Amino acid sequence: MRTRILGTGKAVPAKVVTNHDLEKLVATSDQWIAERTGIRERRVLEEGRTTSDLAAEAARAALAAAELPASSLDAIIVATVTPDAPLPACAVSVQQKIGASCPAFDIAAACAGFIYGLAVADGLVRTGAYQRVLVIGVEVLSRVLDWTDRNTCVLFGDGAGAVVVGPTEGDRGLLSTHLYADGAGVPLLGIPGGGTACPASPASVEARQHFVKMNGKGVFVHAVRNIARASTAALEKNGKTPADVDWVIAHQANLRILEGVADKTKLPLAKFYLNIHKYGNTSSASIPIALDEAVRDGSVKPGQLLLFCALGAGLSWGSALVRW
Ligand code: UT7
Repeated sequence: MRTRILGTGKAVPAKVVTNHDLEKLVATSDQWIAERTGIRERRVLEEGRTTSDLAAEAARAALAAAELPASSLDAIIVATVTPDAPLPACAVSVQQKIGASCPAFDIAAACAGFIYGLAVADGLVRTGAYQRVLVIGVEVLSRVLDWTDRNTCVLFGDGAGAVVVGPTEGDRGLLSTHLYADGAGVPLLGIPGGGTACPASPASVEARQHFVKMNGKGVFVHAVRNIARASTAALEKNGKTPADVDWVIAHQANLRILEGVADKTKLPLAKFYLNIHKYGNTSSASIPIALDEAVRDGSVKPGQLLLFCALGAGLSWGSALVRW
């Protein structure tokens, strides 16, 4: 028995923030951002709406595509590092908003969160415990960005993507998932404040500890090397070569990272489904958003071989191979 993706959905905020808009906030330029990252614009969630609102919208779209009611769900997994609040899990609010009544929990694996969530869902389905699992990748990074820090604020965006998975007897579905982490990368990327190491206080707010801090160059090097390794591991595990892959649905953090991965793996860049120019880095949401767009615009066709791959804070990274 295998786990198959039964439907996909996405939700992105209506508000577009262009590189030119950011030129008014920090010392940057459309040219620098586009050349160094491939990003032209990103979406920013409207005030008053939350992560679970965006996640619920993507979830409804995925359920509609799968032709399933929310009441049929056996579990909801939300991959996010920007939940509505530290407690309770964002997934529980999503459950209530979509009208489901199943177990619901969050996974925090940053940009690799969707692949981690998919791996957990795959396990739950293949034990026979659950028939229908909703996996959502969602981030509202705009609320944790330091809009005075050009090293980070130009890179990220908000969005949500979702899939519903269930068991299948056929050849199509998830062939394997590959998860990795290395805590030596903790200092490279994170939000220092608001946890037990640095509880919220007037001093922590003053020191801007509640915003994303990143050593971009450090992450970049690990991203190219480890996404390439994880991608190759997924192919080798299934006896496939780069020529067998139809689409690479990769985490969209930086176009130059993907060029590096293409170079190392010999997967041609033309096989990478790219939408970073529209959304920037939406962390755990980027793979399910790209997947949904690729499915809906007809790029991805039944029977094709898809490779998912990502790396993010932690460091956490992974890959998955899917026969669509
Ligand atoms: O989602 C997973 C986690 N995140 C990532 O995967 C991000 C990985 N890292 C990256 O994508 C890239 O390292 C960045 C896009 C963050 C930065 O690109 P870079 O080519 O590594 O640039 P850099 O950090 O080496 O900076 C080059 C120069 C610096 O100026 P000096 O020191 O050479 O004078 C920066 O201060 O560019 C400057 N710079 C900027 N200039 C204009 C940095 N950010 C900006 C900016 N606009 N927004």
